[in-house]
Parts: sequence; C-alpha cells; structure tokens
Amino acid sequence: MPLVVLFLTALIAMPSAVQAAQTGTPGAPPTAELLEEPPVLANLSTEPGVVEVELVAAPAQVDLGRGVPTPVWAFNGSVPGPTLEVREGDRVVVRFRNDLDEPTTIHWHGLHLPFESDGSPFHPVAPGERHDYVFTIPEGTAGTYWYHPHPHHRTTHQVSHGLFGALIVRADDDPLAGFPERLLILTDNRFREDGTIDMPEPGSMQARIDEENGREGDVLFVNGQVAPRIDTRVGEVQRWRIVNASAARVYRLAIPGSTMLHVGSDGGLFDGPLAVPELVLANSERAEVLVSGDAGGDLELTTLPYDRYIPQTRPRDWKTPRHLLTLHTTADPPVAPMTIPDVLRPVEPIDASEATTTRVVVLSQGMINNRKMDAARVDITAALGSTEIWEIENVVGMDHPFHLHGFRFQILDRNDVPVPVRSWKDSVNVPKHERLRIIVRFEDYPGKWMFHCHILNHEDMGMMGVLEVS
Ligand code: C2O
Ligand code: CU
Ligand code: CU
Repeated sequence: MPLVVLFLTALIAMPSAVQAAQTGTPGAPPTAELLEEPPVLANLSTEPGVVEVELVAAPAQVDLGRGVPTPVWAFNGSVPGPTLEVREGDRVVVRFRNDLDEPTTIHWHGLHLPFESDGSPFHPVAPGERHDYVFTIPEGTAGTYWYHPHPHHRTTHQVSHGLFGALIVRADDDPLAGFPERLLILTDNRFREDGTIDMPEPGSMQARIDEENGREGDVLFVNGQVAPRIDTRVGEVQRWRIVNASAARVYRLAIPGSTMLHVGSDGGLFDGPLAVPELVLANSERAEVLVSGDAGGDLELTTLPYDRYIPQTRPRDWKTPRHLLTLHTTADPPVAPMTIPDVLRPVEPIDASEATTTRVVVLSQGMINNRKMDAARVDITAALGSTEIWEIENVVGMDHPFHLHGFRFQILDRNDVPVPVRSWKDSVNVPKHERLRIIVRFEDYPGKWMFHCHILNHEDMGMMGVLEVS
C-alpha cells in the first residue's frame, strides 16, 4: 500500500505545529505556544487628545526561538517594537533617541504628516542624538500602519536586525468595535548556527541573490514567534490586522478549509466585506480580515507559493507552502453569534476628472524611470492641493511593490481592468510586466517625499525617487 506509506512518511516529516493543526480536535491540548502581541507604548501625557511616547533604538538580546538569545537591534528592547496606539485627531509626540552606533530614522509608514516628521533619509538621527516626531492623525484615517528605520542604504540591515513595529489608528465610530482583535506582524529571517542574524558577506553569491530578490529568510515569524497559536471559541469572529514587515517575502495568505472576510487594507476598512479564499500581501502592505475557527478541529494560516521571481534566482523551495500559525478552537462554551455588518466605512472615490496631470512611472530592475536615487535631485514636482494620476509600469520579470510617502492613494485599474474594491493604499504590488494606475491628491504638507520599491534591498540600492510637493 504505497499510498499509505507515503502519507505516513509525510506526517512524520512534518513539523509538530503542522501535525497539530491537522490532527487537532476542539479542546485537545494545544502544542504550539500562544501568540503574544508586542507591548502597547505607554502614553506619558495626561492631556486629552495627546499621545506622547518614548522610543529608543538600541542593541538588545531577545528570544527568537533559536535556543539562545539573539543579539538584535530593537525599539525599547522588544522585537517587534512596541505598538503605537492612537485615535483619529490625536496629536502625537514621539520622543526618540538613537542608541545605535550608526545613523537611523523612524519612518511612520502610511501616515499623512509634516515632512520633518516623516523620518525619511532627509532627516537622519545621528548616534546618541534625539529627535521628536510630531504629527496629528487626520480624521478618516483609522487603520493599520507601521514604523521602521529609513536611513539611506541601511534600511535592510536595520529592519532585519529587529527594528520595526505596528501603529494602530482607531476611530470612534469603528463598525467592527467589539470584535476580538489580534495583531499579526509577519517577518522572516536567516540565522547562523550560533543563533546570530545572518547577513551575507558583501560581494558574496548570497549578497548578489539578496540584491536581486531582496533578502528572504528561511525562518518565518508572527510577532517574533515561530508557528504560534491563536485560540478561539465556537461562534467567535476575530478581526486580524496583518502587517507584512518582511524585507522581501510576499505572503499569499490562506486558511485552507475556511474563507476569510477581507475587510480592509493599508489605510483602513473597505465599504463592505469581501469573502476571499486567499490574499496576497506584498512588502509593507497591511490587511484586515475577519476569521473564525473550525468547530471540528484546528485551522492553519498558511502562506502559499507565490512566484514573484525571475527564474534564475527563484529560491529552491519557493513552491513549498509554509505554515504560519494555528487557529485553535477551544472547548469553552460557544459565544453568542456576532453579526458582521455589511456596511463598513465609506471610501469616497477620488474624482478622476479632477486630475490635472498624468505621469508615467517605469519600474525596471533597481531603477525608477531609468534613474537611481539621488537625494540632491527632484524627480517629480507636484503642486500642493493638486490631484494626479500615476501610471506605474513594471517592465521587468520580477514584482516590485511600489510605495509613496506622505499621501494615501486609490488604485484605479490594473492592466486597464478596474479594481474590484476601492480602498486607501500607500503601497501596491506591481507584478512582473504589469501596469496599474493610481490616483492621489497632494493635500497639505509641502516637502520632499520618497517613492520607492519596498523590497528593502532594492530601496537601499537606489530604486527610489523624490517627489517635491510645493
Ligand atoms: Cu515603509 Cu519609505 O517606507
Ligand atoms: Cu513610507
Ligand atoms: Cu523592487
């Protein structure tokens, strides 16, 4: 009976978390450890509507499941860094100190804020220096964002060493208030045998592959844990906020045997929920989904194969689905069924007839419009208050996730086909040889804003440009 033998061998070879996921029954003793969430930053201000927090970037030692503590660089000693939670309308003051021995910044990915507080490569914070990031959270921008360093040429290195964290903006009129919430920050990393983070030798074969593909690691983490578990009860619907904080790995998320309700992306909720069997989350993108467990057993959150590569440098195991976490239904009594609203938050379309300029932005390997980043050059000048359409075309055989600082946008169409859901975005994947159009309004905040590929190695090597809004 060769089939049975094969099946058993496959079971034995599977990591224990996957086995648990497939053999689990409600109430069975769970094997994976419970998912933990990063600490929430304490608000030092007592003034209503003001959030004042302290962040320090410094070397630390943390448990990344390697058997020995891993030397990292961390915000306030934790990987991921602590979560910054704010509300629409809040004035935010981040008192930052750089205790690394090299320059860094904190970039507030996806936020609409003054140029001086964007934490872009224009405003490096020297070792030992302090910088206050001050901004106000605009109304209507509730959503899931994140923060990470953005020094020129060193973003991959610093993020790979543990510098990243989530930022959640809440609204008073949240249509999903009351749904139990989980934050899932997805990263991957590579380690040496001694448990230290493995960065390639400059000029090595691995360094060249990383430059081409972006740095991927073989160890996958959710909130810094490997294959953790989320508990749920029969009848419960959980709201997951998922952040792709990986340098280069693109996730094609699925819960086999279950359908997710996709309810939001980078800049918050959609008009209404959308049932999806899977969803692709490119670098720096976020998703909000509603999920429920399976009364008859455990479910697993998996990332399915996604071919973003050129054939020459595709990783050997790219076709292998990877387990991310187990969704375990406990034997606790069922919760009262929750009603999922079919109207979430209206996403007002940006009127395309208001666009005064259409630009073409061409992505090739390592370059945008045939140029590499030059901080002394302005690539695009736009008028304050104007609306523009950008046609972004990827002319090479590898995906490039495109990101714009400071201003959220809407995707109009992909290869001339209108997108099915309107949403607020700040990052969008541009698959190989595809073309898409976005529309953006440059409200407030004059200054110089980066646009770039969010594969961190590509960004570091100069796949980035400068937009001046004035
Ligand atoms: Cu998330 Cu310019 O970056
Ligand atoms: Cu950004
Ligand atoms: Cu790229």
